[in-house]
Amino acid sequence: MTLLPLSSRQQIFFILCVSAFIIFLTNLTVITGADYRDGIEILPIPQSLKPLLQHNKPPQLRIHEDKDDFSYSSEKADGHPISQLMEKAAADFGRYRDSRSRTFAQAITRYRKKYGRHPPPGFDKAILHYDCRGERNVYNIDDFDQIWDDLRPFWSIPPLELRKVVKGLLKEDPENSGLSGITIEHGKIKVTGGNWRTDEFVRMLNVFVKELPDIQIAMNRLDQPRVIVEWETLQEHLKVEEESRNLDRLVTNGFSRSRGLDESMSFPIAEWFSASEEPYMNLASKACPPDSYARNNMTMEPAVAEEKYKFPNSGGLVSNFNISSDLCTIGPAIQDLHGMLFAPATMVATKKLVPIFSECKVNVNNDILFPANMYYSDDPRYTYSPENDMPWDDKHTTVFWRGMTSGGSQELNTWRRLHRHRFVQLANSTDLRNTKTRLALPTLNLTTIPPAYTEIKNWDPSPFSEKYTDIGFPELAWCVPDRKCGWLRSFLKEVNATTALTDQFLNKYLPDIDGHSFSGRWHAWLKSRSLGIKATIFREWHDSRLFAWQHFVPMDNRFDDFYSIITYFIGLGNRKGGEEVYIPTHDSTGKRLAGQGREWAAKVLRKEDIEVYMFRLMLEYARLLDDRREMIGYWGSGRRVKEEKVWVWPQ
Ligand SMILES: *[C@@H]1O[C@H](CO)[C@@H](O)[C@H](O)[C@H]1NC(C)=O
Ligand SMILES: *[C@@H]1O[C@H](CO)[C@@H](O)[C@H](O)[C@H]1NC(C)=O
Ligand SMILES: *[C@@H]1O[C@H](CO)[C@@H](O)[C@H](O)[C@H]1NC(C)=O
Ligand SMILES: *[C@@H]1O[C@H](CO)[C@@H](O)[C@H](O)[C@H]1NC(C)=O
Ligand SMILES: *[C@@H]1O[C@H](CO)[C@@H](O)[C@H](O)[C@H]1NC(C)=O
Repeated sequence: MTLLPLSSRQQIFFILCVSAFIIFLTNLTVITGADYRDGIEILPIPQSLKPLLQHNKPPQLRIHEDKDDFSYSSEKADGHPISQLMEKAAADFGRYRDSRSRTFAQAITRYRKKYGRHPPPGFDKAILHYDCRGERNVYNIDDFDQIWDDLRPFWSIPPLELRKVVKGLLKEDPENSGLSGITIEHGKIKVTGGNWRTDEFVRMLNVFVKELPDIQIAMNRLDQPRVIVEWETLQEHLKVEEESRNLDRLVTNGFSRSRGLDESMSFPIAEWFSASEEPYMNLASKACPPDSYARNNMTMEPAVAEEKYKFPNSGGLVSNFNISSDLCTIGPAIQDLHGMLFAPATMVATKKLVPIFSECKVNVNNDILFPANMYYSDDPRYTYSPENDMPWDDKHTTVFWRGMTSGGSQELNTWRRLHRHRFVQLANSTDLRNTKTRLALPTLNLTTIPPAYTEIKNWDPSPFSEKYTDIGFPELAWCVPDRKCGWLRSFLKEVNATTALTDQFLNKYLPDIDGHSFSGRWHAWLKSRSLGIKATIFREWHDSRLFAWQHFVPMDNRFDDFYSIITYFIGLGNRKGGEEVYIPTHDSTGKRLAGQGREWAAKVLRKEDIEVYMFRLMLEYARLLDDRREMIGYWGSGRRVKEEKVWVWPQ
């Protein structure tokens, strides 16, 4: 028999029909295809022909106009690496959101299970004060792991010793130590060596200070982290904490009274040293695990680290935002590319484990994080205001950034390595042309069937940059040795000084780049209708509640993914034949992502959320300083608290 069985012949015929149909549709859209700015957005790509054959249906190329009725399911079918990353983020975030405690009793049970201890005394007040009266609607009452991670090592230091350490820190001259002292006594707050940061700190404390026992706090007056304990030493501290966990002991729900320190005692000193102008990785690598890159091999190829946190063949897109700022992994790759890492202008540090409250840190620091003062203040330079924050569709399709020339010491032979300066030059079309910069970029290949995204390596970003970015320094200042930056002006020029926070919301895409330390504008970016694009090496109090690719766009600290990100949203090239590169615009995806970030920020980054974080942080800290810390805690099951009043938040 030379004839194939009928079913196979039918199959072949069907495959031919399908192929013809795809070719027909592709041609049709090429003929009718408009420019990407006002034309077709999404081309859902069948992953393979097989499932379609099974279902006996011709493949459907659903073509989406870029309108508001754009749906998430069509976006998934698009197959761009960013679409895939968003899909994963949505699933992770869904699990996070759905697993939160809905009742006080659940939160208590979870606390004990996670940390192996009873919650601190006053825990009921911290939670109930904020929730049961239905006043504050704190959305997630479990997510305080950061507090626990920050305070854990201090359980290895006995309470009296710890109180002496704090007192010792506060006895130093604030100008030398860079610390402010905050003393709570009988519900009253006293400040020594205060500055504007301390004012906000005190405002936060005032909300619940009546519930706190007498304690002393050493607050970092500087914006860079201070404490960096070597890895081996830290492991010993953590081991002591782990061994001291106990849920069997009877505890009382209250702090102890006698907490005085005798002035005749001797107080330890922190042993500050200056690490200004020195590579920070020299310090940081010793705080990394022995098997980490940073500890072993500072000459590692960047590509080796990239495997750990980048999406493969995607033009550098970040798939793991946590690792993208883990200095033990990526430190070797970015040590020369971030101001704080290669030339911190002012760095005062200690290797001793001392409790210092700081606004940000890098992953190897042991500072205790508290919500940055800018997030609580009403300073218009940092606080979100709806003025000029128009609907997405009315904003300019522009990637906009303004900032100061901060980040590190600006010298003739260093400025090109400072992160902000690098970013500004990466968006400077003249500079890109002069340096013949070529980048890797995922683009849609329409000649393959089905069309698929592949990475091209040799893309010239300068025309795109010229058209869509508005990025620069409004003022060049603080250079070395010439403070007016005369020499820098032959490389950079000052741009239109649109620095008012609200003016920036006229634009759709807002990158946020570290300065001297973290960027205090981040909450405002998230609360706005614009889309935040975040690159940072710093960790902050809110990290675990914000999901990359769900609430904002993560960017690598090397910025090699910058154009992969913005070409995805804005679109590139043209469907009409002959174009080398083509990416459909994903404007509605940008709008959706910005909306998700805004909605979430309105739930979890409010002043109330900052207050409850501080409240819990202070209760945990106060317990650490209590002589009877093993015997105090919240012992109840939480069941007596009326359940119907707790945490009902519309989904
Ligand atoms: C360190 O990095 C260099 C360059 O990438 C590599 O040749 C060498 O094998 C690495 N050494 C170790 C111990 O990983
Ligand atoms: C971040 O990465 C570190 C290891 O690099 C890991 O220990 C930690 O649990 C991660 N955190 C999150 C929130 O994924
Ligand atoms: C697109 O796909 C075709 C067919 O597979 C291939 O020959 C061509 O090199 C691809 N183009 C790019 C830019 O990847
Ligand atoms: C862009 O780069 C060119 C050449 O390096 C330089 O002359 C120009 O001042 C830069 N523009 C800005 C806005 O910094
Ligand atoms: C500078 O910014 C202002 C305010 O946004 C704007 O009105 C003006 O047109 C800008 N000037 C230039 C030269 O771009």
